Amino acid sequence: MRTITTISELRRALSLVRQQDKRIGFVPTMGALHEGHLSLVKLSRHQTDVTVVSIFVNPTQFGANEDLASYPRTLESDASKLVEAEVDFLFVPDASEIYPRSHATAVSVRDVTERYEGAIRPGHFQGVTTVVAILLNIVQPHAMFLGQKDAQQVAVLKRMIADLQFPVEVVIGETVRENGKLAMSSRNIYLSANERTESEALSRALAEFRSLVLSGEAIDRAKQAGMLIFEKVAPHGKVEYLDIVDSETFHPLTSFEPLNQPATIIIAARFGSTRLIDNVTV
Ligand code: PAJ
Repeated sequence: MRTITTISELRRALSLVRQQDKRIGFVPTMGALHEGHLSLVKLSRHQTDVTVVSIFVNPTQFGANEDLASYPRTLESDASKLVEAEVDFLFVPDASEIYPRSHATAVSVRDVTERYEGAIRPGHFQGVTTVVAILLNIVQPHAMFLGQKDAQQVAVLKRMIADLQFPVEVVIGETVRENGKLAMSSRNIYLSANERTESEALSRALAEFRSLVLSGEAIDRAKQAGMLIFEKVAPHGKVEYLDIVDSETFHPLTSFEPLNQPATIIIAARFGSTRLIDNVTV
C-alpha cells in the first residue's frame, strides 16, 4: 500500500493506473476503521482493479457542538488494517490540502437534506457533499463504495452525483453489525457497557416496525410498536426519530405500498451524549 498526502502525488499515481485501463474503486472514510469500513474495501477489491481509501476527518461536516476535536484518530492501526486488506492507495490529506485558505465553494443539495439528520445537524450534509465532490474530482474513480448504515448520506450523495453528472458508479454495502445487532460505528467506543447493551434497542425497534408494516399494519401503529420495544430494551436511551421514508427523497411515508416504493425505516437515538443511527430497507 502506498500512503499519499498530497493531491498532486495522488493524481500522478492514478493517471498511471488509468493509462493501464484499470478500474479504480474509492472508499471515502474518516478513519477509526472497523469491519463496516473494511467490508466496503472488500467490495471494492472484488469489483475494481485498484482500491483507493481516503481518511479525512472532514471539519465542515461537524457542527459547532459536535465531536470534531474528540473524533477518534487512529491512523497507525487504520493503516495496518488497510495493508492487510490489500488496499493499493491510502490518501490522508491535511485539512489545508482539501480546504486551502482561498477555498470558497460549497456543494449543497436541496430537499433530501432537509429532514432527519439534516434537520438535527444543520450544515452536516453540505459538509459531506462538498468534501465528497472534492474527493471525487481528485480520485476520479470508476466506482465509489458507501455504507447503507448512513442511509440518508447515501440518498444525498446519489442525488448530488446524478444532478452534477459525476461519471461514477455508486455501490452500496450492507450494514455490518456487532452480533447482528448494534451497527458498527466509530462512535460506539463512546458507549458505556450498559449503553452498549441497551443500544440493541435500535435494531430491535427497526425489526418490529418492519415486520408489522410488511404484515399490513398501519404505519402509525407499527411505529408505536417500535417505540414501545425501544423503551423496553433501552430505558436510558432517547429516540430522536423513528419513521418510514421514501429511500430516495427521505420524505416520510404515511401509507406503504410494498410494490411501488423503495422504503427505508430509519431511527436515531441518544445514549447520554452519544448519538446512534440505524436503518433497515423494506
Ligand atoms: P465514516 O463515518 O468514516 O464512514 C465511511 C463509510 O463507511 C461510509 O460510507 C459509511 O456509511 C460506511 N460505514 C460506516 N459504518 C458502517 C457499517 N457498520 N457497515 C457498513 N458500512 C459502514 O461517512 C463518512 O465517514 C463521511 O461522511 C464521508 C463519506 C467519508 C465524508 O466525509
